[in-house]
Amino acid sequence: MTHRVDARALAGLQREISVSEFFARNRHLLGLDTPARALLTAVKEAVDNALDACEEAGILPEIRIDIAPRGERAYLVTVEDNGPGIVEDQVGRIFGKLLYGSKFHELRQSRGQHGMGIAAAGMYGQLTTGQPTKISTRTGKSRPAWEFLLSLDTTKNRPIVHRRQRTDWTIAHGTRVEIELEGQVQRGPHSVAEFVRQTAIANPHATLVFEGPDGERIVHRRTVRARPPRPRPMRPHPHGIDLGTLVSMTTRTRCRTLATFLQREFSRVGPTTASAILRRAGLSRRAATTPRGLTHAQAAALHRAFGATRISAPSAACLVPIGEDVVRKSLEARLAASFCTAVTRPPAVYRGHPFQVEVGLAFGHGGAVDEDRADASATVLRFANRVPLLYQAGACATTQAVVATSWRRYGLQQSHGALPTGPVAILLHVASVWVPFTSESKDAIADDPEIARELRLALQECGRRLAHHLAHVRHAREENERRDRIASYVPHIAAALQEILGLDDEVRDGLVSRLDATIDRRRSEAA
Ligand SMILES: Nc1ncnc2c1ncn2[C@@H]1O[C@H](COP(=O)(O)OP(=O)(O)OP(=O)(O)O)[C@@H](O)[C@H]1O
Ligand SMILES: [Mg+2]
Repeated sequence: MTHRVDARALAGLQREISVSEFFARNRHLLGLDTPARALLTAVKEAVDNALDACEEAGILPEIRIDIAPRGERAYLVTVEDNGPGIVEDQVGRIFGKLLYGSKFHELRQSRGQHGMGIAAAGMYGQLTTGQPTKISTRTGKSRPAWEFLLSLDTTKNRPIVHRRQRTDWTIAHGTRVEIELEGQVQRGPHSVAEFVRQTAIANPHATLVFEGPDGERIVHRRTVRARPPRPRPMRPHPHGIDLGTLVSMTTRTRCRTLATFLQREFSRVGPTTASAILRRAGLSRRAATTPRGLTHAQAAALHRAFGATRISAPSAACLVPIGEDVVRKSLEARLAASFCTAVTRPPAVYRGHPFQVEVGLAFGHGGAVDEDRADASATVLRFANRVPLLYQAGACATTQAVVATSWRRYGLQQSHGALPTGPVAILLHVASVWVPFTSESKDAIADDPEIARELRLALQECGRRLAHHLAHVRHAREENERRDRIASYVPHIAAALQEILGLDDEVRDGLVSRLDATIDRRRSEAA
């Protein structure tokens, strides 16, 4: 006889699931699955936060990253910044609670998005080594420095503070995070050293010092001193907002009329656009209708009217691209290539979110672009909001855009459906107020038609410039070869002239050196 459970018994099994319990069990969603990956993710989360905090406070970042072995499979990860520090009563929730942060509700470009990166890294450390996270922070010279030792209560998603005391940290302001975790040191493209190197490429205004577990010390000094401008937060744009979000905005707003609601709570909606939207939604005559009083059908009509009305694209002040000049200089400084170029596309919009695409291309000698590796695939450096993406390359819209570009047209070898080959590095950067990542671990950018289009256009422009450069190099080489051939005839011509005209040896030698000098001068003019 089958055992049947009735609804009442099932009801007894229902329980709320804490967000941290969920992510402790599904930590792969946060990039914390394998020890090698977790080590990199912990560094990445702390470095992202450090850079965000410095930029928000208008400070040129100086960040130290240290990985020290602790026993067999454990490492102590320390990341220290010279940022604004964290006020004492926020430390517990920032490091001991998932989904708590300052960036989720703000529509402007930042590295952090979800409000759980650093607490999740600490939780992973706690689950794998049993050790709490240590935080030291100071918000200014005149204020005391604080030291916290805390862990995360996964069943309640809240911090357990083990120690909270003043400390005599001599740094004027900044934060140091120390997490002990089970990890594995990787070499090559997924290594922490590579993450730090790529971070330096996309953030040339930052100085990064990395000390690895074997005592290696790598210093990436800033190559530009200008701080990136601070992105300004924007209000949601009517194009791309979900109906559910619109409904929830109507219930939360303090605006009394629909026209003021549209103008105050959305970007790019002035009185004329507001009237046009309301007219289209059949709501213009109902001036008395309050946002809260909208029926579901009216909200749906308003939503449809959003889509059908021409509204200016959102302002790009919420974005801070790296900039063509800086991308090119950064590639030149870090890759020592013989040709570098960069394209920053104008801002565009996907699902109501502004975004901007940048592509840099380096070709030739040195570093990652080794001319001897002519048959190796191009190196692709992927970035989202200036953060290097090291995993899930195949699933990322950036890699797909490189593969979809016809590089043969621009002078590179390429097999069908593959990356181009040759001594080339391609940098792709997508900056947005909300990057459409394929998962919470923020590894890959989802395939969106608008983003794909911008990537394609930027890649094609870089490709055209590369083709131009290669044509120039080829032309100069051919010209040199021709002159070499002509130069080889010079002694014979001089000897023939000597014979015909009866010249003496001195005049003949003078002729040879004059002809050689003319050919050399032309050669250097052509180079
Ligand atoms: N080094 C730091 N200095 C100053 N503030 C910090 C620092 N680290 C974290 N914070 C603050 O703590 C908040 C939470 O950080 P956390 O990494 O958990 O989330 P996030 O950066 O907002 O988003 P994400 O989960 O995408 O990383 C941040 O929003 C920021 O306000
Ligand atoms: Mg973060």
